[in-house]
Amino acid sequence: MKFDRHRRLRSSQSMRNMVKETYVHKSDLIYPIFVIEEDNIKNEISSMPGIYQLSLNLLEEELKEAYDLGIRGVMFFGIPNEKDACGTGAFIDDGIIQKATRLSKSKFPDLLVVADTCLCEYTDHGHCGVIDEATSDVDNDKSLELLVKTAVSQAKAGADIIAPSNMMDGFVAEIRAGLDQAGFINMPIMSYGIKYASSFYGPFREAAEGAPSFGDRKTYQMDPSNRLEAFRELESDIKEGCDMMIVKPALSYLDIIRDVRNRSDLPIVAYNVSGEYSMTKAASLNGWIDEEKIVMEQMTSMKRAGADMIITYFAKDICKYLDGGDY
Ligand code: PBG
Repeated sequence: MKFDRHRRLRSSQSMRNMVKETYVHKSDLIYPIFVIEEDNIKNEISSMPGIYQLSLNLLEEELKEAYDLGIRGVMFFGIPNEKDACGTGAFIDDGIIQKATRLSKSKFPDLLVVADTCLCEYTDHGHCGVIDEATSDVDNDKSLELLVKTAVSQAKAGADIIAPSNMMDGFVAEIRAGLDQAGFINMPIMSYGIKYASSFYGPFREAAEGAPSFGDRKTYQMDPSNRLEAFRELESDIKEGCDMMIVKPALSYLDIIRDVRNRSDLPIVAYNVSGEYSMTKAASLNGWIDEEKIVMEQMTSMKRAGADMIITYFAKDICKYLDGGDY
């Protein structure tokens, strides 16, 4: 025979489906929603067409739509009325996220709420922790105390999963201890331990109004050039007791997702971040690409790289594609 016959298994859609290796399921998806404290606002984010800052009084409608489409995981990002130096809004009982979580759990009990545990949307300087005046850098250990308070208040409000995204050293261990002490021994931690200092977060910072007012996040987020550093982060988070691992961003970091898959048996989450959404949307709105096909190819690539779950602003669209198409 002159050639291997690879094409034998590609001859029809039914044949291709029979040998298909990678699927995207609705149950893989986590949908992020921006919640704003003021009433009656549905404010489209200019760099993220189709994504809104939504008031609490309009949230139920959005949750119902997502739920009816088949989404079973959401994540809330808060835009509080007031910010201060230590991010008090993140850990008070009637904080915006706590309110959104309570509302969601009371209306849709089996919709999982993943709580992003960070201070950057609540600090007036926009950093993920409190600032040490002497160094103008974040004070790791002081920030940890506040992050533990934030996680516990999110758990009390009914969150199902705590996802610390602040990148302080030791955050998984401290949050685990704090949750256990408060009685939440069964609360899973989804760690954002592998989080690169990426420009792909740009549109998110407009959406969540949380850009740092000085400096950048390079002293606590990872250098995009580094791969071995991701292994060190993974190892320490596993030791500290994390239950799931996020790799963020996703599309320029598929190699890292694959590395993490090969090195650990933890469930892996790919965060398909705001800049990835915006670039795809912009090309689609210009008529340059087929949005449905491109989005599904992107999602498939994250699953193929080894992700089990995907946090994505496209979650609702994907549910519609899955209902209508052959994926
Ligand atoms: C931190 C947080 C950020 C994102 C998710 N959680 C911002 C950052 O780390 O700078 C970015 C997500 C995105 O770009 O979609 N609270």
